[in-house]
Amino acid sequence: MNAHPPAHLSVIIPVFREAANVAPLVARLDAALAGLAWEAVFVDDDSPDGTAAAARAIAAVDPRIRCIRRIGRRGLASACMEGFLSVSAPFVAVMDGDLQHDETILPALLAAVEQGADIAIGSRHVAGGAAEGGFSAARGALSDGGAKLARLLLPVPVADPMSGFFLVRRDLVEEVAPKLTGRGFKILLDILLSARRKLTVAEVPYSFRSRLAGESKLDATVLLEFAGLLLDKATGGVVPLRFLSFATVGALGLLVHMAALALLVGPLGFQAAQWGATLVAMTANFVLNNRITYRDARLRGAALWRGLAIFYLVCGIGAAANVGIAGLLVRDGALAWGMAGAAGALITVVWNYAVSSTLVWR
Ligand code: GDD
Ligand code: MN
Repeated sequence: MNAHPPAHLSVIIPVFREAANVAPLVARLDAALAGLAWEAVFVDDDSPDGTAAAARAIAAVDPRIRCIRRIGRRGLASACMEGFLSVSAPFVAVMDGDLQHDETILPALLAAVEQGADIAIGSRHVAGGAAEGGFSAARGALSDGGAKLARLLLPVPVADPMSGFFLVRRDLVEEVAPKLTGRGFKILLDILLSARRKLTVAEVPYSFRSRLAGESKLDATVLLEFAGLLLDKATGGVVPLRFLSFATVGALGLLVHMAALALLVGPLGFQAAQWGATLVAMTANFVLNNRITYRDARLRGAALWRGLAIFYLVCGIGAAANVGIAGLLVRDGALAWGMAGAAGALITVVWNYAVSSTLVWR
């Protein structure tokens, strides 16, 4: 006989630096889901504050609680996916681990999906919902702007597409999983935009609470990732997001190069200044790519130095190829210098990207 019935509902809880919120959240789930066969999976990205240990301490005495500890990876959306794909319950929910989402609406979300909705969303923007207290005025305006943009792309009307609180049948997640970008904060939006058919959406109002412990992890990079997600879905994913990010960083690197050159050319003379500027630009590109393009696989410590060394090497070969190819194209009269230069630069960025993706940020 089963001492513990298989879970009917799995609640996936992405957590980063939420140690103080873990136990209170489990107690609240226990009350809100009484009578249901539920389980909760905390997905922690190796938080330095002992979040995983807090979850494991509960798991040691409560078999409904599990914890996935990921090392060397960061990201809310990918943490949610990891959790989804680790469970077998027919219904799965995602909620934040900071007590800002109202767990008492989980039974209503479940009922909506059991009764036929593809996805039930905890919504701040339908009658009875509220976002007050949860966000600063600036953050609220940003969230509204993002939601407006998202609604333009969505095939179905959704009042709160930016919600991080929702419940779906697991088979829907399994179906869309291969198409998700897996990056950034907006897993719900990613699912809505990746489904092959028009989904039926139910929204259940709740009031977004303010945070009591810890702080929000939403930052400028998360916003960039959001813009990238929309772009990716709007263009049908023809150009990989990472490549766009890498190429944009590369273009910024050119500006850095010119600025460094301008500063160094006086004291060092052109030739040495050109070398110096190249080094400065490559280093800036490495830092930006490490923080933005490859944020989810960010290098630290010893791996950082090793990565930087390989990056210099890769870019050095790329630069030589750039000069060489452009030179050939011009010499053979195949292209005018402007086109030849652009062709050289394009080949270089593709080379740098392809090799960096496999050798530097593996
Ligand atoms: N594993 C993991 N990895 N968890 C993360 C990461 C990460 O890189 N970044 C954030 N989290 C966890 C946090 O610990 C928290 O439990 C949850 O994801 C939400 O992060 P917050 O930093 O608290 O986000 P927020 O409050 O600003 O925004 C949230 O609420 C909005 C309203 O529903 C997010 O869920 C938004 O997506 C949502 O729109
Ligand atoms: Mn939060």
